[in-house]
Amino acid sequence: MNSLILNRKLAQLALLQRIELANPRLKKLRKLFGRYLFSKFFSKYFINIDKISEDYSKLMQNEFQNIIKLVKNKKNFLSIGAGIGGLELIVLKNFSDTHFTFIEKNYVSKKIRYGWDNSNKEGYNYLNQLDFFLKSNGIFEERYSIFDFDKKDFPTSNFDIIISIYSLDYHYDFQIYSNYLKRVMKKETILIFDTIRPEYFKNIFEHVEIIKEDFKTVHKSKRIACKIFR
Ligand SMILES: C[S@@+](CC[C@H](N)C(=O)[O-])C[C@H]1O[C@@H](n2cnc3c(N)ncnc32)[C@H](O)[C@@H]1O
Repeated sequence: MNSLILNRKLAQLALLQRIELANPRLKKLRKLFGRYLFSKFFSKYFINIDKISEDYSKLMQNEFQNIIKLVKNKKNFLSIGAGIGGLELIVLKNFSDTHFTFIEKNYVSKKIRYGWDNSNKEGYNYLNQLDFFLKSNGIFEERYSIFDFDKKDFPTSNFDIIISIYSLDYHYDFQIYSNYLKRVMKKETILIFDTIRPEYFKNIFEHVEIIKEDFKTVHKSKRIACKIFR
């Protein structure tokens, strides 16, 4: 697959969602001038859009390879915290009879703070940008629907697979979604997310499998695939 093409707005969001895309110069600017100017200004105007497009595409291709075995033959997907949706776009392109439901936030925090967010106040996305990204890459509207987390009007369908890459239990507590997930997961549903406490989820789900170990990130998280609430 060719590189995903991002415009400036999308590249800025991709960078805010995947801070590993920041080059050393940007990281230095963040340190010197603080989170506000970084979130508002440097992340938008001090970036090489082509380089971010290329690196973001590589990251998303790697994520796709990591979950490909689990998503093959699945149809009804839910993605919690997809960001601009690079991974989801690759799934939609590769598997033609899939449908995605997205739950995301519709704002970018003024001063993004990374790491654990107890009150789940941080947001780094715009839903119209997610919509634009999918449409401009040739995905028809019938193949996805987008829900704003803060409107609390969550879709009630049963999903075959639920993914939350570096969002649920990585930035905010699993509890925020646990009652909802109980309702929309059936026996066969697979839930994939990143966490630093995989052992904890063995008490919550009957099956927990570690599918990726991240030693490079500060949090040293693991990606787990879970099935069946206890
Ligand atoms: C670190 S980014 C990861 C984005 C994408 N999954 C990726 O791998 O590039 C985390 C995303 O979670 C979103 N988010 C934060 N709280 C959320 C919530 N309660 N529900 C859904 N999304 C949320 C943020 O807006 C952000 O886009």
